[in-house]
Amino acid sequence: MPKTRKAIYPGTFDPITNGHLDIIGRAGELFDEVIVAVATNSSKSPLFNEMERMELCKAAIAEVMPSAKNISVDSFEGLLVDYAREQKAIAIVRGLRVLSDFEYEFQMALMNRKLEDITTVFLMPNEKYTYLNSTIIREIAKYGSDISGFVPECVRKELEEKFKKN
Ligand code: COA
Repeated sequence: MPKTRKAIYPGTFDPITNGHLDIIGRAGELFDEVIVAVATNSSKSPLFNEMERMELCKAAIAEVMPSAKNISVDSFEGLLVDYAREQKAIAIVRGLRVLSDFEYEFQMALMNRKLEDITTVFLMPNEKYTYLNSTIIREIAKYGSDISGFVPECVRKELEEKFKKN
C-alpha cells in the first residue's frame, strides 16, 4: 500500500484566522493528510486555553471547508520534531506572509531539519491575508471593531464573548 503523505501545520492559533485557513486549504490539496497542531507550551500567554484553541480550529475548518476530509486537529507539547516523528509526518507546513517572516522561519526550518531531518514546506497565503496575525485580530476585537473579514463567524463570536466576559 502506498505511504500516506502526512504533514503537520503547527502554531499557537490564538485564535485561528482566515490566513491560517488559507494555508490549511492549500496544504490539504498537497498532502494526503494534514494535522493542524496546536502548540500548548508556547512562550506566548494565550487568550484562549488549549482546549478552546483546538475547538476553534475544528469549528473554523468545519465552517470554511466542510468537505475537507483529510484535515484533523490535535495538540502537542514539547519539541515539534518529536511530535512529527510520533505522527510519522513527512513534512512541516509553515506560512510565509512577508519577507520579515523569513529569517525566523529559516532558522526554525534548519534547526528542525538538523534535529530530525524533516522537511519544512513554505506556502504563501492569498495576498489579502499577508498583513494578518492573531495579535492584531485580538486587539481589534478587544476594542469592539469588526473582525468579520479576518476570521470565520465561529471565531468572531467566541472573541466577542471572551471580551464581554473579560
Ligand atoms: N495567517 C495569519 N496569521 C499567521 C499566519 C497566516 N498564514 N501564519 C502565521 N501567522 C501569525 C500567527 O497568528 C502568529 O501571530 P501572533 O504572533 O500575533 O500570535 C504569528 O503569525 C506567528 O505565528 P507562527 O509563526 O505560526 O508562530 P507560533 O508562535 O504560532 O508557532 C511554533 C510557533 C509553535 C510552531 C514553534 O514555536 C514550535 O514549533 N514550538 C514547539 C517547540 C519547538 O519545537 N521549538 C524548536 C523550534 S526550532
